[in-house]
Amino acid sequence: MSAGGDIKKEIGRRRTFAIISHPDAGKTTITEKILYLGGVIREAGEVKGKKGTKAATSDWMTLEKERGVSVTSSVMQFDYQGLRVNLLDTPGHKDFGEDTYRTLMAADSAAMLIDAAKGVELQTRKLYEVCRLRKMPIFTFANKMDREGKDPLELIDDVENTLGIKCYPVTWPIGMGGEFKGLYHRLDKKVFYFERGREEPSIQDVQSWNDVSIKEKVGERLFEKLQEDMELLDVALGPFEKSEFLAGKVSPMSFGSAKYNWGVDIFLRLFAEEAPPPGPRLTIEGDEVDPFSEDFSGFVFKIQANMDRKHRDRVAFMRICSGKFERGMKVKHTRLGREIRLAYANQFMAQDRETIEEAYSGDIVGVNDSGNFQIGDSVSVGKSIEFTPMPRFSPEVFAKLTIKDPLKRKQLQKALMQLSEEGMVQLFYDPFFGLQDPILGVVGELQFDVLMFRLNDEYNLEVKLERQPFSVARWPRKKDGAIIGKSINGGAKLYMDNHERPVVLLAKEWDLNWLIKENPDLEFHITGG
Ligand code: G4P
Repeated sequence: MSAGGDIKKEIGRRRTFAIISHPDAGKTTITEKILYLGGVIREAGEVKGKKGTKAATSDWMTLEKERGVSVTSSVMQFDYQGLRVNLLDTPGHKDFGEDTYRTLMAADSAAMLIDAAKGVELQTRKLYEVCRLRKMPIFTFANKMDREGKDPLELIDDVENTLGIKCYPVTWPIGMGGEFKGLYHRLDKKVFYFERGREEPSIQDVQSWNDVSIKEKVGERLFEKLQEDMELLDVALGPFEKSEFLAGKVSPMSFGSAKYNWGVDIFLRLFAEEAPPPGPRLTIEGDEVDPFSEDFSGFVFKIQANMDRKHRDRVAFMRICSGKFERGMKVKHTRLGREIRLAYANQFMAQDRETIEEAYSGDIVGVNDSGNFQIGDSVSVGKSIEFTPMPRFSPEVFAKLTIKDPLKRKQLQKALMQLSEEGMVQLFYDPFFGLQDPILGVVGELQFDVLMFRLNDEYNLEVKLERQPFSVARWPRKKDGAIIGKSINGGAKLYMDNHERPVVLLAKEWDLNWLIKENPDLEFHITGG
């Protein structure tokens, strides 16, 4: 059923996007400026955090604060130009690619931040690939223009060649580094002039980029460079096609300096004009769920335990895919096959959270959870829905834990179970020893650092990490769908994951080739799902 007028209006003004970038490109800085422009914080730098000096509004975990590295995703909501914006922050570090991937599943568009001096870095490339696979509309912001960087044309080449997506520069920098004078807005035909020490630009309407009044402001040399660049771009690029942007084929690109708050408002306005409202979501049957349908549905893309240390709580982050959420509503939980009540839900703003009464398709809500939810779970009102599954990454680093105080063994098992439900570690059991002593698998090294930190900080457990000589995990399945016995050919031991699915852990990729040869009746999958 299609939703009534008010609900439609509310859904239509939702914009949900994620910022992705390589660590240090300036994500924290630009997020702050965006929140400032969105009226959420009164002054950029207001929230104390990172490195004890400057703000890191979205970084709320102790470890993040200590290290200055963002390791969780968080959600922030604000109103801008009549829109209700949900901003999803993602961990910048490559070891947390899986978390980022899942967060992108909850967004309708993404903003990619690039350090203009460094261009596209490896991590950025992987993330773009994720966006491309999802055909996600993506904005690009080239940051740190106040520093000497790559020539903007080179930067475009870099993005286009490494990421295989076309760029459409909406603004164009006039100079860079110490000589960064401003931005020419190609669509609005305006020049924004910046001055050190002033956030507000002075804005001039012009006929075009060859308006001589620009020369008077920026000098002959920079004006000439602007002429050369614009001539080239005008020949190389046609008009901006929104349909190509929505299909993830063209990325509107803008430039600026998050640090000086130059060009961030231009980016935000561009976002407000072009970013799409909530789009349809696919179910595993291949049906599309209409975001404007009146029937509520959503899926869980993230679980976070101990957000509030005092209450030892657990929050399931849910992306609403259709209809309206109301506090206390009863929904069908597809995996459990029963109804549950969504009693309390929160919306987040860095350290603060607020109980909400209602939310709409496109919104992200944090549902208090007593253990009902796993990542990827779908809920709905009306008919049961199962959205396409959340991707899992195959672990590449493995270890066992030894605990100093053997009396705390049970506690450790419980903590590991909770953290594995969050998706931060995968557990593998030796069927002979059962639940004791699991082997832990993660995608990247830094995840182990975070795990150790959290076991100590949140669960008061002192453990030692013992590396295991594996680098590959594969889930064997019979090609004919039959159940696998207790062993397979080729001498590989069968472990169990925490859904009791058989898995092999191997030292190197080469061992896998051997196993494939020895077991022609088996397929080896990179995830258990
Ligand atoms: P991240 O979240 O993507 O990891 O990056 P973050 O915002 O923490 O920025 C990383 C560093 O880059 C910070 O410097 C920050 O000030 C700087 N930065 C961000 N945007 C710009 C920009 O537009 N221009 C310039 N020149 N620098 C920028 P830091 O030395 O690590 O911290 P701080 O001492 O400046 O706080």
